[in-house]
Amino acid sequence: MTSADYEFLRRLLKDRSGLDLSADKQYLVESRLIPLARRAGLPGLPELVQKLKSGADALTTEVVEAMTTNETFFFRDKVPFDHLRQTILPDLLRARANRRSLRIWCAASSTGQEPYSIAMCLKELGAILAGWRIEILATDLSQAVLEKSKAGIFSQFEVQRGLPIQLLVKNFTQTGELWQLNADIRAMVQHRQLNLLQDFSHLGTFDVIFCRNVLIYFDQDAKANIFGRLARVLEPDGYLLLGAAETVVGLTEAFKPCTERRGLYRSSAAPMLHVVATMPQAMKVAAGR
Ligand SMILES: C[S@@+](CC[C@H](N)C(=O)[O-])C[C@H]1O[C@@H](n2cnc3c(N)ncnc32)[C@H](O)[C@@H]1O
Repeated sequence: MTSADYEFLRRLLKDRSGLDLSADKQYLVESRLIPLARRAGLPGLPELVQKLKSGADALTTEVVEAMTTNETFFFRDKVPFDHLRQTILPDLLRARANRRSLRIWCAASSTGQEPYSIAMCLKELGAILAGWRIEILATDLSQAVLEKSKAGIFSQFEVQRGLPIQLLVKNFTQTGELWQLNADIRAMVQHRQLNLLQDFSHLGTFDVIFCRNVLIYFDQDAKANIFGRLARVLEPDGYLLLGAAETVVGLTEAFKPCTERRGLYRSSAAPMLHVVATMPQAMKVAAGR
């Protein structure tokens, strides 16, 4: 691949998905796009670039999707789900006791393991949430991963990564080598295609936003821009969760980290946390405390 072709692809990927490839990632582009070029009936990358320059929209989408990293697994990193059970839900169930509704956004949901992990945490609360309207919105740039997420069918390998056996038995039905997520959990999650580089104010406001392991691939300006817009759709007393290698520090004043709770952020104007002491007994049981 010529350096001009690589530059074209780098710019295209940055503009379309936010992916910020460094100058030494030619091998990655080649390993993912040469097979795609062949499938499209093209001899190689120069011809693929030519075709993209002529404005082939469907092919551009395929190129962007081929370059995204969709790695995910159930209860990834564990700690965010401990925060959800032990800090966020006790606090918000108290704060929303009159309204009795919660909106949770999983902003780069990949093949569904993250939003369905959230749904399983909520289902574990059982009667505590009776009468509550719970919305979990799963969005991703890639239509392909959203389709897999909607189907809720996972391989043995996928369910073995992070999912506690009792939740597997309770929430999945085995069909041959695959595991189908039961309809009650699937019904808790709505799916929608959404590019974080584009406006998302039409989604309304959320009590909790999971935006994990996606901004890590973006440059500082794109991260700062997205944090600014996330702050506007997060309720003033809501919670933001980032991935283990991500932070707001140095990028925005809109969020502050929660002390002693890694990966958990609140709006800078949000009140201090006083939640663990007020956690009802039934929630302590659900949270395993
Ligand atoms: C590594 S996965 C993370 C999945 C999940 N959040 C987790 O932590 O396990 C990153 C996801 O971000 C999506 N993505 C990449 N760029 C995006 C963008 N500009 N807007 C929305 N989603 C994007 C990818 O399609 C991919 O599914």
